[in-house]
Amino acid sequence: MSITPVPRVAIIVVAAGSGARLGAGSPKAFVGIDEHTVLRHALRGVFQAAPAQVVVVAPEGREGEAETEAVEAAGSRRDLVSVVAGGATRQASVAAGLAAVWPDVETVLVHDAARALAPGAVFDRVVAAVDETGWGVVPVLPVVDTIKRVDGSRVAAGVDRDTLAAAQTPQGFPRAALVAAYAAARAEHTDDAALFAAAGHPVDVVDGDSRAFKITTPADLERARGLVAPNAAPASAGIDRRPRAPRVGVGTDVHAFAGEGVLWLAGLPWPGEPALAGHSDGDAVAHAIVDALLSAAGLGDIGTHFGTDHPEYAGAHADVFLVRTRELLGAAGWAVGNVSVQVQANRPRFSARRADAEAALSAALGGAPVSVSATTTDGLGFTGAGDGVAAFAVALVLPA
Ligand code: CTP
Ligand code: MG
Repeated sequence: MSITPVPRVAIIVVAAGSGARLGAGSPKAFVGIDEHTVLRHALRGVFQAAPAQVVVVAPEGREGEAETEAVEAAGSRRDLVSVVAGGATRQASVAAGLAAVWPDVETVLVHDAARALAPGAVFDRVVAAVDETGWGVVPVLPVVDTIKRVDGSRVAAGVDRDTLAAAQTPQGFPRAALVAAYAAARAEHTDDAALFAAAGHPVDVVDGDSRAFKITTPADLERARGLVAPNAAPASAGIDRRPRAPRVGVGTDVHAFAGEGVLWLAGLPWPGEPALAGHSDGDAVAHAIVDALLSAAGLGDIGTHFGTDHPEYAGAHADVFLVRTRELLGAAGWAVGNVSVQVQANRPRFSARRADAEAALSAALGGAPVSVSATTTDGLGFTGAGDGVAAFAVALVLPA
C-alpha cells in the first residue's frame, strides 16, 4: 500500500466566479479553452508543481463538475484534492478554501483559476520564496506600457514605470499569518497580497510568467485559445493534442413501473399510462441519451452530473437533462451530431407519437436529429413481463 505523505503546502484554486465580463453563458471556470475547460487547464499547472493539497473553490451547486475535473487532472494525486463551494466575492471564496486546508499545512498558495495557463514552475518559485523569507510572495511582471495618471480626459502626470509591477497569482503566504489576516480583514481587497499587507505583513516579489495572464474578456479567451492550439508554443504540454475526430457513445437506462402520477417517457407525458419510478421523472429514454452523449464526449456519466446529490433534478423532465447535457458538451468543445434511441417496452405504444417524441427530444438538444424506435421483447424478460422500460441510445458528437 502506498501512503501519500501529508503535504506541507496547500494550493487554493478559486474558481467560483460567474465570469460576467467573459459573458460565455456559464461560469468562467467551465468555459472551454479547447476540449478542456479553464479550470482543467488551471489544474494542469497546479499538478505540474511539487505535490500539495489542492482545494478547488467551485461555484455553489457546481461542485460535482469541479470534482470531476480535479480528479481527472490529479491522476495519482487524487487523494490530495478537495472541492468546496465559494462565496459571493473572491475574498469570501478564498476564505472558504482556507477553511478546508489540512492542519499540517504551513504554506498556502492562492491561485485564480482564470489564470488558466500559469505553468507549474511559478508555483514552485512562490513556495520557495515563502520558505526563504517567511513573508507573503507575489509573482509579478514588469509593466511594459508607459503609464499615465489621468484626471477625467486629461493626463495629470506620468508615472515612473520602474516602480510598478503587474501582480499575478499564485500568491503564497505563511498559513497562520494568512488565516489571521483573513480573520482581521474588514474591507474587500483586490488580491490576497493587499489583504496580507493590510494586516501589517511584508510582501515580496518573484518573477511571474506571461502565460499566467488572467482570462477576463473574450479577447483574453482568444489569446488563451491561440496559445493552446495544436501548433502553438508548448503551453499545453501534457494534454493530448491530436486533431479531434467525431466520437460515439452508448447509454442505457431502465426504470420500473412503480412511480406516481403521469408517465413521462421520451420527453412526453403519456396520460393514462402507469408511471415510472426514479429520482427525476424516470424517463429512461432521456437518461439513456444523456449517458450516450456524456460518454461520447468523455465527460463521465449521468451520475457524475445529475446524481441524487443534485436535488435540483428531483422530478425534472427530459428537457432539463438534455439542455444541461448540451451545455456541458458545449463547454468542453463538443456539438451533438445525432442520437438514435430504442425503447424496449410493452407499453406505451410509440407508433402514433414517435414524431412528437423525436421533435421534443431534438428541440431540447438544439435541433440535433433524434430517432426513436420501439420494440417489444416477445414477452421475455422484465420488459416482456411489463415490469418496466429499458432504453438504449447511441450518440455521435462532433468537435464544435
Ligand atoms: N472568484 C471566486 N469567487 C467569486 C469571484 C471570483 O472564486 N465570488 C474567482 C474567479 O473564479 C476567478 C478569480 O476569482 O478565478 C478572479 O476573478 P475574476 O477574474 O474577476 O473572475 P469572475 O469574478 O468569474 O469574472 P467577472 O468579474 O467578470 O464576473
Ligand atoms: Mg470578478
